[in-house]
Amino acid sequence: MNIHSLKSLKLTKEYFIQKVLKYFNRIFRRDANMDDFDWQRYPEHYQAELADIKKSHTQVLTSGDYVFSEGALSLQKDILPLHSNARLLYETILQLSPDSLLEVGCGGGDHLSNLSTLSPNIRLYGCDRSIEQLSFLHKRHPNLKADIGQLDITLPYSSQWPVVDLCFSHAVIMRIHTDDNHLVALSNLFKTAKKYVVLMENWRSHDFMESIRNIFEKQMIPWDNLFFYYRISPELNKPHIMIVSPLKLNYEPLKKYDILL
Ligand SMILES: C[S@@+](CC[C@H](N)C(=O)[O-])C[C@H]1O[C@@H](n2cnc3c(N)ncnc32)[C@H](O)[C@@H]1O
Repeated sequence: MNIHSLKSLKLTKEYFIQKVLKYFNRIFRRDANMDDFDWQRYPEHYQAELADIKKSHTQVLTSGDYVFSEGALSLQKDILPLHSNARLLYETILQLSPDSLLEVGCGGGDHLSNLSTLSPNIRLYGCDRSIEQLSFLHKRHPNLKADIGQLDITLPYSSQWPVVDLCFSHAVIMRIHTDDNHLVALSNLFKTAKKYVVLMENWRSHDFMESIRNIFEKQMIPWDNLFFYYRISPELNKPHIMIVSPLKLNYEPLKKYDILL
């Protein structure tokens, strides 16, 4: 058996354990704030994922590794590149040029740290439901200049939460499936954002466009207008990131959700 099959065997075992745990969680510990992913055990899994990505990508940028110029973020040094998702996410955010932003489900904090390196004047906020994830963030980025707090984004909105120009999530809402929790989470993202919501999620996990339209019609989004846009990932050669705004922007309008799938 080679290393690859060993690895896939291990992943299959982890996947199976997650599934079984999810099943028992659902039966025995169902409550208002539970979704169908076992977030209690997640930090371990997350750190293993980061260790794996580190073999082929730079995860934490230092000044000058990448430069943002004429709307594009490009590698300047002889180092491993950023993951294509991270590069597209940062490039899009830098194009939108917010004064402040909130990352929902910030995990280990690499995105906030990298955005702070790339654009030190953005006021940064991050939240995550998991204390373990946040203590990992503080260990990994002890000098990060950001307001970080524990917050479950599926809870009812509070006016104590930050209000920012731009709110984004990467690989968070796609894992929230219980009841209508993902709709509450999306509504909260929009309530914190004055100008932009940027999403990079698994587009098959929910119909994000329909969900956002629905909550807009139910007045769960405090904006006058709602425009959908997308950007293409050059590496994947397909639309991969969604930008939602009450403003007319110079991006391709997203008319059919299917192009993201
Ligand atoms: C796959 S990780 C992604 C972390 C980070 N966005 C990244 O790209 O590295 C998902 C993160 O979302 C957090 N999360 C899940 N559900 C959440 C919720 N309801 N409210 C806030 N954070 C949540 C998890 O604790 C975890 O840190």
